[in-house]
Amino acid sequence: MPVVDVHTHIYPSVYTELLRSRDKVPYIRSFPDAPTAGDRLVILPAEDTASTSRGRPIGSEYYDIRQKIAFKDANEIDISVISLANPWLDWLPPNEAAEVAKKVNDDVERMCEEYPKRLYAFGTLPLSASANDVVAEIERLSTMKHMRGVIIGTAGLGGTGLDDPKLDPIYAALERTGQTVFLHPRWGLPGEVWGPRASEYGHVLPLALGFPHETTIAVSRMLLSGVWDRFQDLNVLIAHSGGTLPFLAGRIESCVAHDAHLKHGGKLERRRDLWDVLKKNIYLDAVIYSEVGLKAAIDASGADRVMFGTDHPFFPPLDTGETEWLSVRLNTRAVQTALGDDQKTVEDVMGGNAVRILKL
Ligand code: URA
Ligand code: ZN
Repeated sequence: MPVVDVHTHIYPSVYTELLRSRDKVPYIRSFPDAPTAGDRLVILPAEDTASTSRGRPIGSEYYDIRQKIAFKDANEIDISVISLANPWLDWLPPNEAAEVAKKVNDDVERMCEEYPKRLYAFGTLPLSASANDVVAEIERLSTMKHMRGVIIGTAGLGGTGLDDPKLDPIYAALERTGQTVFLHPRWGLPGEVWGPRASEYGHVLPLALGFPHETTIAVSRMLLSGVWDRFQDLNVLIAHSGGTLPFLAGRIESCVAHDAHLKHGGKLERRRDLWDVLKKNIYLDAVIYSEVGLKAAIDASGADRVMFGTDHPFFPPLDTGETEWLSVRLNTRAVQTALGDDQKTVEDVMGGNAVRILKL
């Protein structure tokens, strides 16, 4: 059974060139006072501070597909489903987004073509443009040989979130074309929540806590707005093992069941609950670095819906020269420890589920 990485990013050069021309988040620049020489990628507002945590060094592993292949070879990964990383095209002026989306998607498809059977992809959507533009790109993606779905953040169309009914034609197109949505956090929670000492703590708080909570909030809003009642075949792969969703699903459902406002509005009749959606529409990646979180993901959605990932090229080893990555080792060990002697299910989570679900 091949090992498949469903959570692995690339910033094609059309994208990095745009970031190099900017001086606001997201952007790429060098800083004379940075701890290491060279360009830095600044994508989260919380990391845009004058400190050693301003952005991260960006080397060719972020844009050169040969580096992705070398990483796969060093870490025994057979197939990768690559995707543009945050913040995608959300920040682009509406009149430019559709054109840039086409260029990014064509370039990613070309990369997949170069490495047959080793690369597939999730496409990118021009979500700052109109719903019509987005639907057109979804339809175009559905004709491309290596595309298996789309990656989106939590912003929705122009920042209103994933519970905005204006997204309905987009959800309908994704459902109709059978494309999986890979839902990934964009930039965590608002900076104030990290307090005045935030810059002392590197990227830990926004990445470890901001990202998973951002995703959890977005999915809860989708659920409460009835997205999965209207689109019962819409499949969503949630990053980082669902944020905190597996842990909080019981509490979310209890808050719904005790909410007089929802009851009086008739919202409790004929609604699908989160447990049902978790088992029929949601897939979870295994990017949680510990068997405790991974067991929760498996309990919530089932071992047949959880898929291995790495988040490469993020979280590289801090000591240069290490080719086997700690982040990969932690995620692999979590799968093995969570599933014990059940070798067949280990192989399914490491690759078999992705082959079946994404038709690789
Ligand atoms: N940091 C990011 O901004 N994105 C990722 O996917 C991982 C880490
Ligand atoms: Zn990621």
